[in-house]
Amino acid sequence: MTIAKNSGYPETGVLAPIPTGPSAEVLLHGVHIYGEGDPQDVLIRDGVIAEIGDDLSSAMSEAGETLDLQGHILLPGLVDMHVHLREPGREDTETIRSGSAAAAQGGFTAVFTMANTAPVTDNPSIAETVWFKGQHANLCDVHPVGSISRALEGQELTEFGMMADSDAKVRMFSDDGKCVDDPQLMRRAIEYSRGVDVLLAQHCEEPRLTQGAVAHEGATAAELGLRGWPRVAEESIVARDAIMARDYGGRLHICHASTEGTVALLRWAKEQNIPLSAEVTPHHLLLTDERLHTYDGVNRVNPPLREQRDVEALRKALIDGTVDCVATDHAPHGSEEKCCEFDHARPGMLGLETSLALIAKIFVIDGDQDWRFIAKVMSERPAQITKLPGHGRPIAVGEPANLCTVDTSQKWVARGEDMASKSRNTPYEGMDMPVRVSTTILRGKVTCRNGQATNQDGPATTKANR
Ligand code: DOR
Repeated sequence: MTIAKNSGYPETGVLAPIPTGPSAEVLLHGVHIYGEGDPQDVLIRDGVIAEIGDDLSSAMSEAGETLDLQGHILLPGLVDMHVHLREPGREDTETIRSGSAAAAQGGFTAVFTMANTAPVTDNPSIAETVWFKGQHANLCDVHPVGSISRALEGQELTEFGMMADSDAKVRMFSDDGKCVDDPQLMRRAIEYSRGVDVLLAQHCEEPRLTQGAVAHEGATAAELGLRGWPRVAEESIVARDAIMARDYGGRLHICHASTEGTVALLRWAKEQNIPLSAEVTPHHLLLTDERLHTYDGVNRVNPPLREQRDVEALRKALIDGTVDCVATDHAPHGSEEKCCEFDHARPGMLGLETSLALIAKIFVIDGDQDWRFIAKVMSERPAQITKLPGHGRPIAVGEPANLCTVDTSQKWVARGEDMASKSRNTPYEGMDMPVRVSTTILRGKVTCRNGQATNQDGPATTKANR
C-alpha cells in the first residue's frame, strides 16, 4: 500500500531571477561512452562537451570538478515525453521542483509535463509559469504540454499558436488523462497543429467503452469482479486517428500504447508512411493484470495493466521501432487517492526514478539490446519526436552537455519513501533495481551526483521566496 509522504504547502510566490552565469568545468573520469570501448575522460566546459580523451586531468582548470565515474556508462540525458508534475493545483502530491528532482535522479534532462493540472494548462500564462518554474528549479528542463481543448472539456480548441509563440514555446498538445473523442474536434486539432507545426499527443480511450472500467477486460477482471476496459477502447481511437493523420497530415503521437492490437495498427500505419509516433511505459513493458489480485490501488493505471501477450508485443515493437520510445507517464497521487478500494483508487504510477533501471533490465541485462538502444528509446527518439533542440544529441565534442551516467555495479531497492517525488505510489516497492543513475548533467551543471539530485542554485525553496 502507498502511504502519504507529506501534504506540504504549495510552492508559490514571486520567483527570483533564473540562475545564470558560466558553469564551472566538469571532468567525467573513466566513463564508457554508450557502454562501448575503453574508459574515456569527458571534459565539459561552458555547458558543452569540450574534449574527449584517454586522460584529460591536465586539461582541467583548478576551479573544475572531477567526478570519478570509472566503469560507469555515459548516455545522453534522458527525455521523458509524458509526466504529470501536478503543479498548479496538486502541489501536495508533486511540484515542479520535486518532480524535477525526481527527473534528475532518474537521469532525465528534459521532461514534458501534461496539461491536466488545476487550472488546466490551456493558455500561455499558465504554460509560461510552468516553464519558468522549471527553469528556476534548474534541475531539468520542464516543458509544459498545452491542452488540446479548453479546460479539457473536449468542446473548443485552445490557442495552439499563442502557446507555441509564448516564452514557454509549447511544442506538444494533449488532453492526456482524457481522450479527444469527438472526431470533428480531433480533425480540427490536426489541421490547426499542422499549420503551427506542433505535436498532438492522443490519450486513446473511447469513453463509451470504458464507463466505470477500472481494470483490463479479461479473465483477471472477471475473477476479481472488476469492471473491464476492453482493448478495443484504445485500438478504435488509434485506428481512427491514424486514418485522420493519413488524410489531414500533422504530427500525431500515441500516448501509452498498451495492447497487441495497437502494435499491429501502428505497424500498418508506419507501412503507409503515416506521420505517427508512439510511446510505451515501463509498467506496460513489465507488469500484467495478474498484479490486481491484491486489490492494491497502486496497480490501478490508465490504460490498465494488460496481459503477457500484450507485454511481449510491446517489447518486440519497441525493439523493431514500431513503438518509438519509452515515456514514464509518471503520475504521482496522494495516499488518500491510492490507499482505498480499488474501484475508487486514482489511476497512475510513479515512474521517473525507476525507469532507466527497469528498461535496462528488460532490454540489456535480461535481453539482447545494448546501451545505444537505451539512448535511442529514452533520449534520441523522444527529442526527435518533440523537435527538442540540445537534447538526445550524439555524445561528441561541441555538443550540449546534457548527459547522464549509469553505475552498473550499484544495485538498489525501490522504496517510495526514499524517492525525491512527493508521492509514494510506486508499483515497484521493494523490487531490486539492477543499476543506478549516478550522475545527471544539464547544460554542464551537475543536477544529480552519486544518485542524489543536487540542490541547484535556484532559490525557489528559500522561505524569503515564498
Ligand atoms: O494512469 C494515468 N494517470 N493515466 C492517465 O492518462 C492520467 C494519469 C494521471 O493524471 O494521473
